[in-house]
Amino acid sequence: MKIAPPKYTYDILPHAEKRPALQDSARWQWVESTFRELCRRYGYGEIRTPIFESTDLFHRAVGDGSDIVAKETYDFTTRGNDRLTLRPEGTAGVIRAFVSHRLDLERTVNKLFYIGPNFRYERGQTGRYRQHHQAGVEALGSDDPALDAEVIALAVSFYAALGLTGLTVKINSVGTVASRADYVKALRAWAEPLLPQMSADNQRRYETNALRMLDSKEPEDLPFLADAPLLPDFLDDESKTHFDALKNYLDALNISYVVDPMLVRGFDYYTKTTFEVHSAVLGDKALGGGGRYNGLVEELGGPRMPGIGFGLGLDRILLALQETGVALPEVPGLDAYFCPLGASARAASVPLLAQVRAAGLSGDLAYSGKKLGQMLEAADERKARFAVILGDSELESNTVQLRDMKTKEQISVQQSELSARLSE
Ligand code: HAM
Repeated sequence: MKIAPPKYTYDILPHAEKRPALQDSARWQWVESTFRELCRRYGYGEIRTPIFESTDLFHRAVGDGSDIVAKETYDFTTRGNDRLTLRPEGTAGVIRAFVSHRLDLERTVNKLFYIGPNFRYERGQTGRYRQHHQAGVEALGSDDPALDAEVIALAVSFYAALGLTGLTVKINSVGTVASRADYVKALRAWAEPLLPQMSADNQRRYETNALRMLDSKEPEDLPFLADAPLLPDFLDDESKTHFDALKNYLDALNISYVVDPMLVRGFDYYTKTTFEVHSAVLGDKALGGGGRYNGLVEELGGPRMPGIGFGLGLDRILLALQETGVALPEVPGLDAYFCPLGASARAASVPLLAQVRAAGLSGDLAYSGKKLGQMLEAADERKARFAVILGDSELESNTVQLRDMKTKEQISVQQSELSARLSE
């Protein structure tokens, strides 16, 4: 019986140039190594945390009222009766680890990055997967708006390094905990008489997470939302000054942005800066997003400490790259592909191939090949620079035939000189 992959997941495969970009592991490696290299340049160190954490963590960090915790988490009870959840996002686990290891005692400002899968019970909309991947950063220990600008600059330079164009950076400030609370109060007062005409989702959000009403895409909500009170009118002086300074830094860095007063994002933990990056080719879905969370570390049992970060959706980056026709940089082929003719030649190839690899070159052997023509075809498919052909006469003279796969020229080379010749 064939077993199907879980719904709304997909496999990532080798030598998949002809498959959708999402399934080509070479593309993933390229995107991930580009991100790692940028993080190195910006001074971020890698953190890896478990893909499951206690269910409690996400309730506290992401928020009971968030759509993610309300409808999308994979929760389970272990054989030992622990309540665990597959992580739906990266921030909560990183902050949990930061607090567990008291990283704040090692450095006053900690800049961390991560790459990995997250799990949300999505309902199969395009660009939404049940296992998706994010490249993220979390910078802890400073409320300086220069750090907000750095985090946004890192995201923008990542997209630029991959060759993605047609992007819009949206920014907003949701204010301090106090000003945000004032706004939520005003928003609820405004929404209350309208609730009977609003969508079921917004009626629920009114009770659990009123800020998220602004995110509704339901046609029955949109006419009302156009007249909703606006967050910027409720910002306190501290948040305003912080937001103005961020905008000045972004200007100085030549990063263009639009201020979107409706941008609140889906987590309870945000304070002050929020931002999202949108790609014209992916419609209204965000390519990545993030923001400040100055209360989260304390909320999770750590010291009072500000933080800011982002998560960039790698699946969506690959979709956008494909849509815009950005080509993958050439993946190098093999240096040598061994084509032995007969059993003794095959046996002699094994240690020769080992020498080639030990010299730092790449090589493989036609393990199932029989006819020379087929083996040479395989060498072409593997983009080999050279085919290494051995038959009985080569065995006798301790030589091999070295065939340049481009020019088709073939020369005889001493076996002892093979690696040196391949390295030339
Ligand atoms: P988020 O906006 O939920 O933020 O996710 C970040 C990005 O991950 C989204 O913009 C989107 O590109 C991608 N993404 C999310 N869900 C899916 C899905 N089901 N399928 C495909 N892609 C998806 C966070 O997760 C925050 N932890 C970001 C953050 C870090 N804020 C502060 N630090």
